[in-house]
Amino acid sequence: MSATLQALRGMNDVLPGDASRWLEFESLVQRWLARHGYRNIRMPLIEPTQLFRRAVGEQTDIVEKEMYSWRDELNGEDLTLRPEATASCVRAAIEHHLLHDGPKRLWYAGPMYRHERPQKGRYRQFHQYGAEALGFTGPDSDAELIVMCAALWRELGLTGIRLELNTIGSSAERASYRTALITHLENNVDSLDADAKRRMHANPLRVFDSKNPLVQTVVQSAPSMMAYLGDATLAHFDGLKRLLGAAGVGFTLNPRLVRGLDYYNLTVFEWISDRLGAQGTVCGGGRYDGLFEQLGGKPAPAAGFAMGIERLIALQQEAKPEPVVPLLHAYVVHLGAGAAEQALRIAGELRDAGYAVVQHCGGGSLKSQMKKADASGARVALIIGEDELGAGEVTVKPLRVARAQARVPAARLAAELTGWNDAKAGT
Ligand code: HAM
Repeated sequence: MSATLQALRGMNDVLPGDASRWLEFESLVQRWLARHGYRNIRMPLIEPTQLFRRAVGEQTDIVEKEMYSWRDELNGEDLTLRPEATASCVRAAIEHHLLHDGPKRLWYAGPMYRHERPQKGRYRQFHQYGAEALGFTGPDSDAELIVMCAALWRELGLTGIRLELNTIGSSAERASYRTALITHLENNVDSLDADAKRRMHANPLRVFDSKNPLVQTVVQSAPSMMAYLGDATLAHFDGLKRLLGAAGVGFTLNPRLVRGLDYYNLTVFEWISDRLGAQGTVCGGGRYDGLFEQLGGKPAPAAGFAMGIERLIALQQEAKPEPVVPLLHAYVVHLGAGAAEQALRIAGELRDAGYAVVQHCGGGSLKSQMKKADASGARVALIIGEDELGAGEVTVKPLRVARAQARVPAARLAAELTGWNDAKAGT
């Protein structure tokens, strides 16, 4: 016998019990995005490697260590499974001239791939919902993105998700801060690991992302960027803070927050929960005004965020542990060849009328079919035997409430079934 195959490490199956929760979560998130005027965009999972090198940055963990990249020998192209989707979204906006008639609010969802060390809340295939506001300059757009997240946490029933906020200024401001930061890192070089030493001169801000506790002590004592920020940056940041205050969204200023991707400028933020252990960031984002130009497009301001579905689902499961069971109105039980045909017809009519109906397959006695009906979770069993068939009727037997069964004319079943159920499928 050949060995059984298993899913790859860090890549998870979502089984039906959990997938029902995912569906409910996604339907809520999609309605929330629509209510904020965001429209869906879908990009390929595979992109030219160069896209992420240029957008995310050569010196980031993602590009240096975590990308699934390979050479497609047939076409001689270097390809990568997307580690994130902001780069693809901007690439698509440039390629299809999406901003020709003004700014756009876009959302996407789907799997992302990073070759990280798997642990609770950190996977090699994980899923994001992302929103990108393309073409907007002001802090009002940053505030919109942040305030809408706060509304989502409320709607999902999630508490204890805090907001960390920072401004990383313009690239010119970061360049002048760089010198001070490099001096500090050089003075503490004995506490830096190989990664930090390598990045220290090429991209010193990246040292901030280090997960090494010793390097983090050096980061904590580093000079603050605040002193290097100009009036325009501070005005943008003040505008954002004022709008968040007016919206009642609390935040903590974290001057060390730089995010793990190089395309950001001005605003950066993360939403963090303490209930998830080390992988507590459920959503992150910021402004990336230089990315359009960096990817060869006409300059355009932009900002956005992405949230990790696995982490948010884990939080929601903790807040509401009851399993999510999809609504099933009726299970059709039938005995005899004529009844099978009638069952097929009736199940079809009920589905057309909006009910969720499972028809028994595979024959068997009334008793065994009723067992299946009960196990299905359906509200009622619809029984069609010789008697019912002859009379043009169906026996409706409630499975979840104490109520007597009754015979109902087949022609009136769709109308009468409402009285036996509170809701139709999907309502
Ligand atoms: P990111 O911070 O790399 O940002 O990822 C966003 C979120 O995806 C994280 O906060 C986390 O919830 C989730 N996530 C990231 N890596 C993993 C993983 N290995 N396992 C499970 N969940 C993970 C971005 O991707 C940017 N594109 C966000 C953005 C959009 N910025 C502007 N627009």
